[in-house]
Amino acid sequence: MNKKLFIVLEGIDSCGKSTQAELLKDYFINQGDRAVISPEPSNGIIGNLIRSTLKKRVFFTEDKQKFDEQMAYLFAADRHDHLYNDIDGVFQLISKGFQVIVPRYYFSSLAYNSSTTKQFNFVSKLNSNFPNPDLLIYLDIPIEISLERLQQRSIKEVYENKEKLTQVKEKYQQILGDYQDLSLIIDGTKDKQTIHQQIIDFIELKF
Ligand code: TMP
Repeated sequence: MNKKLFIVLEGIDSCGKSTQAELLKDYFINQGDRAVISPEPSNGIIGNLIRSTLKKRVFFTEDKQKFDEQMAYLFAADRHDHLYNDIDGVFQLISKGFQVIVPRYYFSSLAYNSSTTKQFNFVSKLNSNFPNPDLLIYLDIPIEISLERLQQRSIKEVYENKEKLTQVKEKYQQILGDYQDLSLIIDGTKDKQTIHQQIIDFIELKF
C-alpha cells in the first residue's frame, strides 16, 4: 500500500484492541509493508509514569475529579511525545514508511478522563490540536463481557470497574456520534478472524 496509515483502535477495556492490532500488523507485513504497534499510554517516560498511576504504584489523590484532571494533563503530554518525538514518534515512523497502529488515542482521554460536561469540554480543549487519524476503529462490547475478561487479569487498574466502564461506554457513543472523519464501528463480540476480515475489507476499500 502506497499510503502509510495512522490507524487508531478504541474501545472499553478488554474489547480486543491488542488482538486486532497484532492481526492487522501481521496483515500489513504479509502484504510486504512495514508496520508497527504503538500504543497509548506510550512506552516513553510519561507513558510509563501513567502506567504506574493506573496500577496505583504512584498515588495522586482520592478525589476522582482531580485525579481525572491530572490524568488528562499527563495523557496529553504523553500524546504529544508519542506523536512528535524524533526517535519513534508516530509521524517519524510514518515518514520512514511504516503503517502505524495505535491502540488508544485522544478518544480515550475524552471517554475516560472526564465525568461532567464541564470536564469533557476541558479535555476536548486540551486535545484540540491533535490531528485525527486516517482511520478510527471502535470495537464495541457489552460491559458484562469487559468485566468478565478483566477478572482473568492479576492486577486491577483504577478505571476497571462497572460504574466507570458504563460511563466510558456512554461517552464513546457520544464521541462516535459527533465524529466527522473516517471511522469503523465493529461488533467486538464476533470471533477475532471475522473482526479482522471486516477491518481489512474496509481498509482495502478506502485506501
Ligand atoms: P490499556 O492498556 O488496556 O489500553 O489500558 C490503558 C488505560 O488507560 C485504560 O484504562 C484507559 C486509560 N486511558 C485514559 O484514561 N486516557 C487516555 O487518554 C488513554 C490513552 C488511556
